Amino acid sequence: MPIQLMRQTDQPLYLQVAEQLRQQIESGELAPQTRLPASRILAKKLGVNRITIVNAYAELEAEGLVTSRVGSGTFVAADEDPTPPVAPLWRGALSPRRPWNANQMVAEMMRLARQPGVISFAGGAPASDLLPVHELRRALNEAMRRDGAALLQYEEAAGYLPLRDTIAAQLQQQRIPLNGHDILITSGCQQALDVTLNVLTRGSDDNLIVVEDPCYLGFLDILSAHRMTPVGVPVDAQGMQVDRLEQLILRHRPRLIYTNPSFHNPTGTTLSLARRRALLEVASRYGVPILEDACYDMLYYEGEPLPSLKSLDTADLVFHAGGYGKTLAPGLRIGYLAAPSAWQERVIAAKQTADILTSPLNQHALHAYLQSGHYDEHLCLTRRVYRERRDLMIAAVQRHFPAEATWRCPAGGMYLWLEMPPSGPTATDLYLAGINYNVAFAIGSVFSASGSFSHALRLNFATPAADEIEEGMRRLGKAWKELLARSVNVPQRDQRYAVPIL
Ligand SMILES: Cc1ncc(COP(=O)(O)O)c(C=O)c1O
Repeated sequence: MPIQLMRQTDQPLYLQVAEQLRQQIESGELAPQTRLPASRILAKKLGVNRITIVNAYAELEAEGLVTSRVGSGTFVAADEDPTPPVAPLWRGALSPRRPWNANQMVAEMMRLARQPGVISFAGGAPASDLLPVHELRRALNEAMRRDGAALLQYEEAAGYLPLRDTIAAQLQQQRIPLNGHDILITSGCQQALDVTLNVLTRGSDDNLIVVEDPCYLGFLDILSAHRMTPVGVPVDAQGMQVDRLEQLILRHRPRLIYTNPSFHNPTGTTLSLARRRALLEVASRYGVPILEDACYDMLYYEGEPLPSLKSLDTADLVFHAGGYGKTLAPGLRIGYLAAPSAWQERVIAAKQTADILTSPLNQHALHAYLQSGHYDEHLCLTRRVYRERRDLMIAAVQRHFPAEATWRCPAGGMYLWLEMPPSGPTATDLYLAGINYNVAFAIGSVFSASGSFSHALRLNFATPAADEIEEGMRRLGKAWKELLARSVNVPQRDQRYAVPIL
């Protein structure tokens, strides 16, 4: 078992030991079940501190390449060991010296989630097995047959009027009294948020925007692109703590209050009715517009949903953004914005500047699909399946996670927000350890403008299939227990996992 250490490089010695043992295990040079030398003996042989070997073995154990048996020593894992091996690609990507920031972390989370074999709770995508492929193909064909070349041409920037009328009719059912002319079609809900920011912040010196803390990451990105600064309001079981708003408004004079009031991304909480009213009251008192992100509104699992802010808005200050990305198919890239009347011309102009118009092909196809009457059925099925998956996820948390982990059962949406004990490993620790088990989730702190929530996990329960939820959570729970054991047993904490975010 030859091991050569290079003391002139900045790669820690324990990683050099782990790396060389890993190669020997993967090449078969060290056969399954081989007993590794006791850490004391190998340390003496290599002339290093015993902790170096303990850390190297712990590293390999977290990767599932070795197992330690109390009183017997450390052994190369058996072939039938169910722990999946680490994909070499990720090992490089997650090297300890790699500089991390929030964007890299998110890009990495998404890349990881797409690797074959990974059970991913990380993304925000709807379940692929529910996408209505056949119905949408029929709708596309129908739209092509009916409207032909018009679908391949430029159309009005505000969007295809029959689709806008259909969306207005859906919103009327939610007691939002609008007609098609009040609706702007956007490229996903994301563009509805961006367009709102664009019109509201143009030419303004005030650059503060009130957001929930934590907040939808894509909105934080928009703020950063517009050079706006988020001011976070904490979220509790009833959503944004609206009673803090007045002080914030007086102190910061924000341009806008952004909220995702129903089934909030990432915490899954819902703003109570009393707080919805209080939010509208304080915003109208100080004339601060509200941007209501309603993209999860139709994914409700417990009785009737609460009225939207737009439906309660008597002062005409709510920008209401929604879309079909979460409830139907994000690939269609169709969202919408219902702006206050004074802003409607300007949002259309901003949309036109951004990308001229949203694909007529997709707009007409969506219209044909909505006309076909399948959408209600699809929503019912989606709610039922996601609700079941939510319950499975919660049961799996109870089975595989420590009793000190806390969460609130989301009444809708796609996410479970799990807070781990602050005295234990961080979510970043767990993320890196989880990779070794081919399981991924979203780290809480990337959703926070203040970098808080270092011990929180956002788990998407909607995308994975039922058996993946149980298996993924089992692996994650195992990874957490191992990390905990390492941080208790190893006197010097392994600095590899101290990855800074932001
Ligand atoms: C809260 C929130 N708003 C907007 C979006 C963007 O949605 P779309 O795909 O419709 O642009 C997302 C996507 O994850 C989201 O979670």
